[in-house]
Amino acid sequence: MSLANNPTAQAVDNVLIYIFGFSAILLLGITVVTVYFVIKYRRSKHPEPTSQVHGSFLLETIWTVLPTLIVLTMFWYGWVNYVGLRDIPPGAMEIKATARMWSWQFEYPDGRRESRLYVPVNKPIKVDLHSTDVLHNFFVPAFRIKRDAVPGMDNYLWFEATEPGTYDVFCAEYCGLGHADMITTIEALSEEDYAEWSKKLEPSGDPRGLVVLEEQGCLGCHSTDGSDGIAPSFFELAGQPRTLEKDGQTIEITIDEDYLKRAIRNPEVEIVKGYDPMMPAYDEETINNDDVQAVVDYLLGKAVAVVPGLDGRQLLEQNGCVGCHSSDGSEDIAPTFKGIGSRDITIERDGKEVTIKVDADYLRRALLDPEAEIVKGFAPMMPSADYLSEEEVEAIINHLLEQ
Ligand code: CUA
Repeated sequence: MSLANNPTAQAVDNVLIYIFGFSAILLLGITVVTVYFVIKYRRSKHPEPTSQVHGSFLLETIWTVLPTLIVLTMFWYGWVNYVGLRDIPPGAMEIKATARMWSWQFEYPDGRRESRLYVPVNKPIKVDLHSTDVLHNFFVPAFRIKRDAVPGMDNYLWFEATEPGTYDVFCAEYCGLGHADMITTIEALSEEDYAEWSKKLEPSGDPRGLVVLEEQGCLGCHSTDGSDGIAPSFFELAGQPRTLEKDGQTIEITIDEDYLKRAIRNPEVEIVKGYDPMMPAYDEETINNDDVQAVVDYLLGKAVAVVPGLDGRQLLEQNGCVGCHSSDGSEDIAPTFKGIGSRDITIERDGKEVTIKVDADYLRRALLDPEAEIVKGFAPMMPSADYLSEEEVEAIINHLLEQ
């Protein structure tokens, strides 16, 4: 008998029901017998005791041995099931959970990070618990699992979802102001849904710019290895001189961002000397401005390996930033992200107050070294985001500057 059908909940429920069952039977039995004796041997009916009883070897043996055996079975049953909670079943999938004030982050074996724990059903999941700051506690009532996340200590638990669904995860160790908001979910997906989900987010590792060049078929004419075919090669463009024909005149330019953007949007205006004007123009319908920027960055060698679809807003969610920083202007724990890209901000630096304009440099410092400059009116409690990759930091900064 169990109240839930997943293995960890069953283990806990079975022991609970066993102990609770015995307790209920004993409570009921003792109460009934007490009430019966109180009525049967009440004073009005038996004013004088008829006999005195002095001990009973048999009775005393029974009520000593029997409860001892019952308690021992409770211990044994509890122990066996507890060991089952600590032994990881073979074939378990391992996911690292990092707790920090005040959010959870889950890291998958392929390096993917999420703020919700997506798992397939019918597969044991081992969760490695870590904390970057203070004591937290990973508590999932539906699976009856609960374990501390302790800074500097490796801890773990496991569970297995047997039915797809959403299961609440709480922090069950008081960890400061945002403790009550330290909530996330386990999203148990059917095997097919999980396969679909993990495929969608699989990082290809290619820079976005290269992906766009491939998608748009640019590489059919432009090589990347320096060989000039029907069109100039993309090999090492940054800072190179180029001779162009424009309005019937020959001009010399240095390849830079502006030139490359013109060459994508209006390729017919400036023709590279020695080539025919055959490239079609790529308007905003075909390649949006972000993608043009990605292409240009890639061509100028500034490109970084970017997960397709890596976007700042998503990263802020995945990394739990939105647990403290609102986007609607409310400021309980940390400054809001609303309008942050165009705001003046007063910070304390080296014990002095300075008002500065929020820019990319400031945001980078605030992300990687939040202790150095504290926004006036807020407590220094943000952990450094130095676990982010350079391209993730950039994606976040770019997103924030647009806010
Ligand atoms: Cu984390 Cu309470």
